[in-house]
Amino acid sequence: MKDSSFKTKSVREGQQPSNEQEHSAAIFLTSSYQFDSAEQAAERFDKNQGNIYSRFTNPTVSAFQNKLAALEGAEKCQATASGMSAIFATIMTILKPGDHMVASRCMFGTTIVLLNSIIEKLEIKVTFVNLPDLDAWKKSINDNTKLFLLETPSNPLGEVVEIQKLATISKENNIILAVDNCIMSPALQKPLSFGADLVLHSATKYIDGQGRCLAGAVAGKESIIDEISSFTRSTGPTLSAFNAWIVLKGLETLSLRMNAHSESALELALWLKTQAFVEKVHYVGLENHPHHEIAKKQQTGFGGIVSFEVKGGKKKAFKLINNTKMISITANLGDAKTTITHPSTTTHVRLSEEEKKQTSISENLIRISVGLENIEDIIGDLRL
Ligand SMILES: Cc1ncc(COP(=O)(O)O)c(C=O)c1O
Repeated sequence: MKDSSFKTKSVREGQQPSNEQEHSAAIFLTSSYQFDSAEQAAERFDKNQGNIYSRFTNPTVSAFQNKLAALEGAEKCQATASGMSAIFATIMTILKPGDHMVASRCMFGTTIVLLNSIIEKLEIKVTFVNLPDLDAWKKSINDNTKLFLLETPSNPLGEVVEIQKLATISKENNIILAVDNCIMSPALQKPLSFGADLVLHSATKYIDGQGRCLAGAVAGKESIIDEISSFTRSTGPTLSAFNAWIVLKGLETLSLRMNAHSESALELALWLKTQAFVEKVHYVGLENHPHHEIAKKQQTGFGGIVSFEVKGGKKKAFKLINNTKMISITANLGDAKTTITHPSTTTHVRLSEEEKKQTSISENLIRISVGLENIEDIIGDLRL
């Protein structure tokens, strides 16, 4: 799945210089746009064409959307204020009360909370399944099933499902398949090329790549994206021009960064495997990982997230985290800086004990988002 033009597209696609001929994209900090006449205003509103108001469209946001669409191989993209608003807008666009969706059990904690506490309130039923279990996805389908939602690889355990096989099941049953591609980014995986209908992003993570702002996006077929845009236009979770500019510039260096993250993450995972204080390492780049072969088929790298279980439970996990001097203790991932997180008490704290058990979010689990520092310095900072 090599795409030789990816690097070029990530640098060159998307941006339309204004009359000022700026080389680097401009930030259009304006809430509205002027019309030449009342007639032009009326026409723009009537045809929904051209810039009207920045909750609808903004040139900086459009540049980001166009570039990300090109990188994901999508017809169109709608940017959102965060990854969560991308997920929420997608669900609200595709489902109505009485409908049903199937979701992977292994997802970012807030996504699970959204599905359990907000989506269920809207009388949309959600069935959770184990990500790699294609039979379970199939068996969960009923007459009202409209959406499959998943992350592959999942956060934080790096479980993987074969997107192409799941896409066959979803297509046979007229179900929209939406893949949260935040952990891979389009530099390492393009879900649409394997038959997914929508690709979702928390651009807050690798697309920004330096932990500066929140952003999100949904990309896919124009017909669905237009509906999602209509939802975001009317409800407001659109991306600010300033944040769009940050993630637009982030995309220019995405490929280089993802390769560097992947290289160091593999080195870290191999090192962790040899350490006496480690019970188990979860990294799909390791050859003995049960999903390694599937990951190799659909990913061009294994990414920067390495999770591992420490011997000695939560106490030792906290000790290891507290012993770090350089690595940042924070819940974010995808930053140039290496970050360390205890999912059970932070990102996944709102899951019930039962849900944590089902998703293997144990008390001795630690997640590292491997940054761009020297790998020896990262390894040297992990001591019990
Ligand atoms: C896989 C995944 N999806 C979505 C989100 C939510 O993104 P945001 O924080 O930009 O709302 C996160 C955040 O960590 C995530 O890891």
